[in-house]
Amino acid sequence: MPALPEDGDYITIAQLVQPPTVPASGDPTREMVKRVDPFMFGQRYLEEGNDIFKYNAWDHVETDDDYKAYAELQYNKQRENPASDFHKNLYNSNPAKFWDRFYKNHNQNFFKNRKWLQQEFPILAEVTKRGAGRKVVLEVGAGAGNTAFPLVNNNENEELMVHACDYSKNAVKVMRESESYDEKHVRADVWDVTAEGEDSLPPGLEEGSVDVIVLIFIISALAPNQWNAALNNVYRLLKPGGYVLFRDYGRGDLAQVRFKKERYLDENFYCRGDGTRVYFFELEELRNIWGGWTPEKGLQLDDDNEKGQPTQPATVSENRFEVINLAKDQRLLVNRQKKLKMYRCWMQGRFRKRVAGDQLEDATPEKLTEDTETTL
Ligand SMILES: C[S@@+](CC[C@H](N)C(=O)[O-])C[C@H]1O[C@@H](n2cnc3c(N)ncnc32)[C@H](O)[C@@H]1O
Repeated sequence: MPALPEDGDYITIAQLVQPPTVPASGDPTREMVKRVDPFMFGQRYLEEGNDIFKYNAWDHVETDDDYKAYAELQYNKQRENPASDFHKNLYNSNPAKFWDRFYKNHNQNFFKNRKWLQQEFPILAEVTKRGAGRKVVLEVGAGAGNTAFPLVNNNENEELMVHACDYSKNAVKVMRESESYDEKHVRADVWDVTAEGEDSLPPGLEEGSVDVIVLIFIISALAPNQWNAALNNVYRLLKPGGYVLFRDYGRGDLAQVRFKKERYLDENFYCRGDGTRVYFFELEELRNIWGGWTPEKGLQLDDDNEKGQPTQPATVSENRFEVINLAKDQRLLVNRQKKLKMYRCWMQGRFRKRVAGDQLEDATPEKLTEDTETTL
């Protein structure tokens, strides 16, 4: 393949790239999976000889070397043309304002019915089972309630309570106005996950009262220097043995590579055109953040490194999160009409508030599934 043009825009590049394939397996069931069951994610391998444009998505597709080089080039350009200090200050000083605008402007169009939630995070199926007993789930940065509502709509547990919190007043308004909003099982409140002092816990919740905390595309909306406060609140809210379910953007995702001039706030951290912020995580960085944080020492950011790399591992304390699963979800999504190949990269994990003296459960391989954010 010819080298990708340095000044090509994302669409040109996305048409040119030739993703690496795996050798043909000759296994007819693989072909069946691709053809018959569009929700059988994780098994749509791009094999030698496959026509890329025959299906909408391929799983576990590594980006090819040309594309990686192209991405690095874009990052360099972004660094050389950062947002001005004025704009950095604007977007960082009151980020909730920009999310408020987002929810005002988009007026319901952002709701995604995530059918994959329970398949992906089986604990969500458990807490919604008939007779599961009193269970409390907290969705943080709940937005339009993309997790809360599918959960309550499929719930058979009389004693389930879902708290859906967001620091955008308009997001909370959208949730409260939803036809699925039934206070028997769901309550939406304004809450900033990074809050300290008397507002540091959401309305109606006490320390150690939550079974499951869902963090889907929310930690990426925080500046790195806010992660510590967020982890602290999450830790305090969870019961010992309680779970964090995490999904967020990964470094190299097309959304990152496509950022143009004056969007770069800091390394891997950007502002979108609407003023909302987004961070792109590395796998090891997440392992360090969740596996390294302790309530006593926090993230232990070192002065030269404000990107959440703890300076020493958390062996000093039993009070911490266990990383049960953490995996990169790399997909090649295909726009068959425009002949575009789009590399997406998300990170997904499950973490658990450690129970003193308890053994880490055996890590099961992460099942990774589809998200609907596929627009280009
Ligand atoms: C990318 S959206 C994701 C929304 C939802 N979790 C989803 O996956 O559809 C990020 C959400 O986090 C919220 N958010 C950002 N920072 C927050 C904070 N410090 N505390 C609470 N919510 C926050 C925003 O208002 C926004 O609704």
